Amino acid sequence: MPDLSPVVSTVADLRAAVAAARGRGLTVGLVPTMGALHPGHAALIQAARQATGFVVVSIFVNPTQFGPAEDFAKYPRTLDADRAVCAAAGADLVFAPPLAEVYPDFSVTFVEVAKLDETLCGPRRPGHFRGVCTVVLKLFNMALPDVAVFGAKDAQQVRIIRQMVRDLNVPVDVRTEPTVREPDGLAMSSRNRYLTPAERAVAPKIYAALQAVAVRASQGERDAARLEAGLLADLAAIPGARVDYASVVDDTTLQPLATVDRPALVAVAVFLGPTRLIDNITIR
Ligand code: PAJ
Repeated sequence: MPDLSPVVSTVADLRAAVAAARGRGLTVGLVPTMGALHPGHAALIQAARQATGFVVVSIFVNPTQFGPAEDFAKYPRTLDADRAVCAAAGADLVFAPPLAEVYPDFSVTFVEVAKLDETLCGPRRPGHFRGVCTVVLKLFNMALPDVAVFGAKDAQQVRIIRQMVRDLNVPVDVRTEPTVREPDGLAMSSRNRYLTPAERAVAPKIYAALQAVAVRASQGERDAARLEAGLLADLAAIPGARVDYASVVDDTTLQPLATVDRPALVAVAVFLGPTRLIDNITIR
């Protein structure tokens, strides 16, 4: 196993490598990322490794999914460390294109999935999912994978990508892997590195609050508004936290639920200082 996965930066080189792999009879897996890779990403790469014969990891900090006040400029860029993670997890190739390779001048076509972006992160990050869908469809068309693997950590994102794939007849098998957590429960995220020690110390309380919802639901509480109120109270009690949203929605439509009488997504976004953390669980 090499220490660093080989890297290409142009679509032409990516296509050539993928075509060569197909010529050897291999199926192709793609794991789209923005880099700053951690064990959560590694789990996706390992899942792709299990499912396919040639695994591509894309590393591209996608400007079209960041709002003007968000952290695009300061998003961590750690290519060599990322290539080591990719190699250790079994990736065959890293695709790390420069901006102009993905968005040449006068790129004016965007992909928008309606309805599913009206709740949770959608209204709080206008244009975010349009940017995600656009870059993911472009990456699919660049790499032409059989399988693409995403994390449940970004539940709304993978729900929207699945809808896009269905609605636009994209011939890619979308797989979802469970959220990988720190031993104390905090969902792994590239943004955790921004937390101060004090913020890091309280951050696991976000997942604890989600688990408390699952406990209340399993004890018979079916009223979504009461579950949300309890969740909000638990999150608001975290020192230094500012709750962006705390919602119980239909797992399929992502629309608000009155009664938890079907699989529900319990999803939160919480600011600790300037850092916005998201997490979710599914209850059935
Ligand atoms: P990024 O935040 O780098 O995440 C890449 C993939 O890793 C996503 O599918 C995300 O859900 C998954 N992931 C992140 N943290 C995880 C964790 N703790 N456990 C399991 N999976 C985890 O999501 C994006 O990039 C971008 O929006 C992208 C899809 C690449 C489009 O630009």
